[in-house]
Amino acid sequence: MDRRGFLAAGLGSSLVGAAAVHGGEAPALGEEYRGRDKADLPTPALLVDLDRFERNVRTMADHARAAGCGLRPHAKTHKCPEIARRQAAAGALGVCVATVPEAEAMAAASIRGVLLTSPIVERRKVARMVALAQKVQKSEVLLAIGHPREVELVNEAAEAAKVVVAVLVDVDVGDRRTGSLPGQPALDLARQIARCRNLRLRGLQAYAGLASHVPGFERRAETSRQAMGRAVETRDLFAKSGLDAGILSGGSTGTYNIDSAIRGVTELQVGSYVFMDVDYRRIGGRTNPVVYDDFQPSLTVLATVVSAAHAGRVTIDAGNKALDTTVSVRGQAVAWQGLSYSPGGDEFGIVTAEKGADLPRLGDRLEFMVPHCDPTTNLYDRIYACRGNRVEAIWPVVARRERR
Ligand SMILES: Cc1ncc(COP(=O)(O)O)c(C=O)c1O
Repeated sequence: MDRRGFLAAGLGSSLVGAAAVHGGEAPALGEEYRGRDKADLPTPALLVDLDRFERNVRTMADHARAAGCGLRPHAKTHKCPEIARRQAAAGALGVCVATVPEAEAMAAASIRGVLLTSPIVERRKVARMVALAQKVQKSEVLLAIGHPREVELVNEAAEAAKVVVAVLVDVDVGDRRTGSLPGQPALDLARQIARCRNLRLRGLQAYAGLASHVPGFERRAETSRQAMGRAVETRDLFAKSGLDAGILSGGSTGTYNIDSAIRGVTELQVGSYVFMDVDYRRIGGRTNPVVYDDFQPSLTVLATVVSAAHAGRVTIDAGNKALDTTVSVRGQAVAWQGLSYSPGGDEFGIVTAEKGADLPRLGDRLEFMVPHCDPTTNLYDRIYACRGNRVEAIWPVVARRERR
């Protein structure tokens, strides 16, 4: 729908009217598009294809069930309580989160079993996580801890709040980013935790980001088995020392069917599988070595051609603020052949056509498979959930502005 059609349909005037009622403050956009065609949406907009998304959720849940492995999907990918609810309904034990606001938002949406996978060393953040653990005691909040000082901070806060907090030892299996070194340092940390009256050791976390995007299934499997082997050895050390090693949480979308078969891995922290992206599609899968198609790309950014003044190229309204460009791959146009996207600054993207391919015209709509799903979701306040061309629901994206 063009701007004239938009106004004629009454959408524009209803927004203006609502703004007047709210004393000049614009109402939250979104709900008024429920039931409409996605072509009516203002762009740039973030869309999820419900059929594909639902299939992805089911495929991962079925795999985990068949493999006898738990599932605690990472909500950093979507930051969306509605998606977390659907993952839980498909059998997930809970969700992982990367930040304190994500943890609070998921718990507020009654999502059980929230695991904070990132370290926190600021007293205020620690106090907030402890307060959350106290508030939702029945649905266990877990913290991954990788340093002796963090143990002290969390234990002190838990003591002050008179609550027992469940923790995992975060083991660095090769990323050299967060967590304790495997083996003896991790065992020492586990012993320190076990001595704390207000902490309860529940096991280990081991995320091997170094394995997740290795191209080629066999090479990826070898990398992941080597990395996760360090976690399994550490887990065995815990068990031999009489320490609780019930949970070993790890894995990624790229290694889900590798890690679920590793002895001792009890749950998968997979994130991107719900949406997929261009970066993941290129790594190749077990059955299809060219395209990683175990999961279908469900997340797209809808954009509009806003300028067409030059031969051979058009400008769309989706630039760095609409499509994350932190990876080397670019967004890929869906349903158009032979088009290439390149960033054209903060607000714009440049689309060119290969020889012989049709170039879109001013006002045309294009959908792009996103280069990297997590940071792209983080750019939007809401996801338009579409069944075919129809907007079926509007899902808020939460806790995305600050890492407070
Ligand atoms: C700690 C942790 N666990 C799990 C994941 C999920 O990985 P993916 O989105 O590749 O499935 C990530 C992603 O970066 C992560 O940082």
